[in-house]
Amino acid sequence: MASVANRYNVAPLAEGLPFGGTVSGLTMASLADEGVRQALYELWIEKGVILFRSCEDSEEMQIELSSCFGRNAEHLFPSVRSAGNSALTSIKFYPDDGALYDVRGEQRGSWLPWHSDLVYSAAINHGGILRPSIIPPRFGRTGFLCQIAAYERLPQHLRERIEGLHVVYEITIDHGDHRFADTDDVTCLRMAESGLAIQRRKFTYPRAIHPMVYEQELTGRKVLNVSPGFALGIYEDGSWEGDALLQEVCKYCMEPELAYLHDWKMGDMVLWDNWRVLHCAEGTHPDDTRLMLRTTITGDYARGRALGVDGLVADLDI
Ligand SMILES: [Fe+2]
Repeated sequence: MASVANRYNVAPLAEGLPFGGTVSGLTMASLADEGVRQALYELWIEKGVILFRSCEDSEEMQIELSSCFGRNAEHLFPSVRSAGNSALTSIKFYPDDGALYDVRGEQRGSWLPWHSDLVYSAAINHGGILRPSIIPPRFGRTGFLCQIAAYERLPQHLRERIEGLHVVYEITIDHGDHRFADTDDVTCLRMAESGLAIQRRKFTYPRAIHPMVYEQELTGRKVLNVSPGFALGIYEDGSWEGDALLQEVCKYCMEPELAYLHDWKMGDMVLWDNWRVLHCAEGTHPDDTRLMLRTTITGDYARGRALGVDGLVADLDI
């Protein structure tokens, strides 16, 4: 990869963090080099999260960079696509529009618990690149947590219990209402207009299931493939025992010691692998505005299944 060596610099994302990297100095012109694109892809698979800093800061760069990691897709729900460019999803909070939550006694706009994007569908997207358009003066950080590192921390007895099991997921727009995402002290005060459009149709969306563990294709590393956000329970055990097991596993998915909270600066772009990294949003002060633009890198890891109306999956024998 000699031709790639001078095109950008790579550093750790944070000291002592078992995942993530920082790439600096990348230009739009260098993305025409197939070697650069391949090297960035391999870095993404290895590290899970990449912060691009001191690179070109434009919508064109964000979309071109995103194309190194897969095909860009429009978001499943039209109401959250950016008005300016449908290849981008708007993640926004305005004082007079946006989801508002009481989070343990403090109001936060667009707060989100730990989750995987689109995990409530069978084919979850491979990742995305986030880029800030308006950064609020307070709060507004985005958290990332690697599920390969989480699996490595999981005790052997839990590894054995979850092998071969699946979790059921459902779209939930009220993020104070997730059963397994530590939301007991979170209450929705106001729903975003874009969220309302989805909520009105909520009974029309099917549920999906995903295995609790799978091996990353290119490296063979095991992934604790559980999203606390959107989880309803364990498919093979809907009893309180199954719920207790999922609660215990979710603690490892939300382990604060493994979390990286990114404090945004203009010009930053953060890429994450949605097939092995959870993310969350700290939320915004209710008087501030925040606007982020995100690409959606499509793909299918081919392990998710849609549930039929009878709650059964045709090709899964239990
Ligand atoms: Fe998300």
